[in-house]
Amino acid sequence: MEKFFSVTANKAKASEVREILKIAQKPGIISFGGGLPSPDSFPVEEMKKVVVETLEESGHMTMQYGTTEGLESLRNLIVKIMDKRFVKTAINNIAITTGSQQGLNLTGKVFVNTDDVIACESPTYLAAISAFRPYNPVFEEVEMDEQGMRMDALESLLSSKKVKFIYTIPDFQNPSGRSMSVDRRKEMLALAKKYDVLIIEDSPYSELAYDGDPLPPIKSFDEEGRVIYLSTFSKIVCPGFRTGWICADEQFISKYVMLKQGLDLHTNQFSQYAIEKFFRTYDLDGQINGVRDLYKVKRDAMLKAIDAHFPEEIKISRPTGGMFVWGELPEGINAKALLPEAIERNVAYVPGSPFYPNTPKVNTIRLNFSSPSIEQIEEGIKILGDFFKEEIQKL
Ligand SMILES: Cc1ncc(COP(=O)(O)O)c(C=O)c1O
Repeated sequence: MEKFFSVTANKAKASEVREILKIAQKPGIISFGGGLPSPDSFPVEEMKKVVVETLEESGHMTMQYGTTEGLESLRNLIVKIMDKRFVKTAINNIAITTGSQQGLNLTGKVFVNTDDVIACESPTYLAAISAFRPYNPVFEEVEMDEQGMRMDALESLLSSKKVKFIYTIPDFQNPSGRSMSVDRRKEMLALAKKYDVLIIEDSPYSELAYDGDPLPPIKSFDEEGRVIYLSTFSKIVCPGFRTGWICADEQFISKYVMLKQGLDLHTNQFSQYAIEKFFRTYDLDGQINGVRDLYKVKRDAMLKAIDAHFPEEIKISRPTGGMFVWGELPEGINAKALLPEAIERNVAYVPGSPFYPNTPKVNTIRLNFSSPSIEQIEEGIKILGDFFKEEIQKL
C-alpha cells in the first residue's frame, strides 16, 4: 500500500515517545509527560450559561458557514487583547485559526519552499517541527541560555546562511520553560531587520506569568510588519474549542486566509461565538488570573520538590511562567531509554530528544506541572529523583 502514499506521508512516522506515553495514561501513573492544561482551569459552569445564551442570541449563525478570516466580533476582541499585550493593531491584521497549531501549519504553506532555512531555538516546540517538516525546510538550531535564544549564535547563523524566518517562542518556552529577555527581543528584531528575515513569534503562554507582569512581545517593537504573531485561547480558556489567531501585516494575513480556505474554510463557528460571548460576559483579567493562581502553586510545588529530591547533577530551568520545567541530566544518561523503567515505577516524563530537529540531546527531559495535582507532583518528583540518583551512581 505504501506506493499509494505521497512522499510526505511516507516520511511521516508515529512518534515512539507518544507510543510509550500512551502506556502512561493508565490509571495510577503520575504523568509529567503531557502538555495538557489542568481541567480545573476550564470555566465549565460559566460556559454552560454562555453556550445557552449564544444559541438563543445567534443560534442559526453558529450553525452556518462563516468567513475564513473569522468572526468580526471575535477579531475585534482580539484587537483589544493585543492592545493589553502592548501591540496596537486593527481588525484587518487579525485572522482566526483552528488553534495556533493551524497557524504554524499555514506558516509552512505561506512561506516555506524546499530547502528554505528556518532558524529555531534548540530545543523547540515538537509540533512546530511537525507542522513545518512537510514543506521540506532545513532547520538550523540556535543555542539557548537562560535568557532564551543566544543572539551571538543567531547572528553567526544569519551572517552565514540565507534564513527565511526565525521561529521563536519567547514566553515560557515549550519545552524549556525559559523566557527571552526584553533586550534580546529588541536585538532579535534588529538582527531580523539587518539580515532581512521574518520572525514567527509563537506565544501561547505569555499571560501565564507567575513572578511579575508578562513581557512585551517582539511584535510590540515591530514597526515594519516583519513579525508574524501567533496566539491562542487554548491556555487561557480551553484547548478543545480549537480557537487561535494570527496578528500580522495585512498582505500576510490575506495569504494566510487564501491558504486556510483550502484547509477548513473557516474555524468552528460555534467556538468562535462562544468565546466571544464568554469574554463579553466574564472579565478577561479575572479568567487569566484564575489560571495563573492555579498554576503558580503547582510551579512552586514542582521546583520545591525538585530542590528536595533531585540530585544536584541535574540542571533544571526555573520557569517564571508557563507549564514546563526542563531538566538536563549528566552526559551518558539516555532519558528515552530510561522512560519505560520510570513508567514501571509509576511516573512518566517526556524525553527531550524529539524537541531537537537535528541534533538531539538525549540526556534531557521535559516535566509538565499544569496537569498533575500538587500531591502527585510531590510524590512523582520524589520517585523520579530517587530513580535518577540510582542511574547517576551507575555512571
Ligand atoms: C509553543 C506552542 N505553540 C503552539 C501550540 C498549539 O496550541 P493550540 O492549542 O492553540 O493549537 C502549543 C500547544 O501546546 C505550544 O506549546
